[in-house]
Amino acid sequence: MIEPLVDVSRDFPIFNRRINGYPLVYLDSAATSHKPEPVLAAMDQFYRHSNANVLRSVHTLAEEATTAYARARETVSTFIAATDPKEVIFTRGTTESLNLVARSFGDQFLRAGDEIVLSPMEHHSNLVPWQQVAKRTGAVLRYIDLADDGTISIDAVRRVISPKTRIAALSKISNVLGSVNPIVEVADLVHQVGGVMVVDGAQSVPHEPTDVMAMNADFLAFSGHKMCGPTGIGVLWGRAEWLAQMEPIAFGGEMISYVDREMATWAEVPEKFEGGTPNIAGAIGLAAAIDYLTAIGMDKICHHSQALGEHAFDALREISGVSVYGPRRPHAAAVAFTIDGIHPHDIAQVFDSKAIAIRAGHHCAQPLMQWLGVGSTARASFYFYNSSNDIDRLLDAILETKRFFQR
Ligand SMILES: Cc1ncc(COP(=O)(O)O)c(C=O)c1O
Repeated sequence: MIEPLVDVSRDFPIFNRRINGYPLVYLDSAATSHKPEPVLAAMDQFYRHSNANVLRSVHTLAEEATTAYARARETVSTFIAATDPKEVIFTRGTTESLNLVARSFGDQFLRAGDEIVLSPMEHHSNLVPWQQVAKRTGAVLRYIDLADDGTISIDAVRRVISPKTRIAALSKISNVLGSVNPIVEVADLVHQVGGVMVVDGAQSVPHEPTDVMAMNADFLAFSGHKMCGPTGIGVLWGRAEWLAQMEPIAFGGEMISYVDREMATWAEVPEKFEGGTPNIAGAIGLAAAIDYLTAIGMDKICHHSQALGEHAFDALREISGVSVYGPRRPHAAAVAFTIDGIHPHDIAQVFDSKAIAIRAGHHCAQPLMQWLGVGSTARASFYFYNSSNDIDRLLDAILETKRFFQR
């Protein structure tokens, strides 16, 4: 029996809901996680008691808001073991973070013929921005070959890294395959040829301890909403030496140092990249989420996520007519599957009638679907508030769905 790591009904109001008469079984945390009381309270407290814009006025509320926003940046910085909070840029989420690196770093440093190394499992957020920068600069995309189980071997990486590699952009954990990619080793190879390592941490930062220096990364992108924080807030962490050289991509208030009629100069990092009023409440909510996760313990969360992922993978594989994708071990908290003869959307619909929330579709990873030879899959994904009982409900629902469609 794998128990949730927290008192779910106390901490998460949404789990007190019934849907179609059943208690909610939420297996869609890879899409977004639920929000615990301390996160809701922190945001509520900000809007009720300290609401003001940041970095502008000197009145009490503005100072409280500015202090809370700065503290949120420090909390994020400590959580990912960054050397300086200034390396933490608040964005709207992983997508905006990756677009920022592609637009700023990519446009500035890539030349025609330079190579960008990707994998076919990348989320569209870590793929389309690179396609676009390649079009603008004449850079070339190179794809790492996946092994049969969807994993990435270092030999396969060696085959695509060349002296022309300027950027490798890779997810730490796949949102479909649940595979864990060898970022440290890839980063080593990329650094040997003078390139930079961009890590999509959307699925890893919520589930495991993160140390950007140990990870050997140059940039790391992640989203608050997948780690108990609110939507609309995310992070781009980057090495200070790169951020200092990069041009901003959004121009306006707060990101300037001096403006006259003809020209402008930029503020220092991180403000240089945060033009306009930021998502202050979002940053405060994200910091509360990080405090909450830290109190549970990221090591414990990591162990729990993997235990559920591996348990679900093994159990699904036992069911005839069910195909499960990705590696058996290690398998992270997302498990993609199909049932012979039943469209994934139909699976999700039948599950919903029993209040089991899963995702069906291409999971924003169409090149991976092409590689798997399927149009879409169902996906169950887990977090520390799930238990092995939830997986039992999933298995029962699969058997029932099979019976229903066979009839
Ligand atoms: C691996 C991965 N990268 C990027 C994203 C995009 O995240 P967001 O939609 O929060 O920008 C997701 C979201 O599902 C993801 O799973």
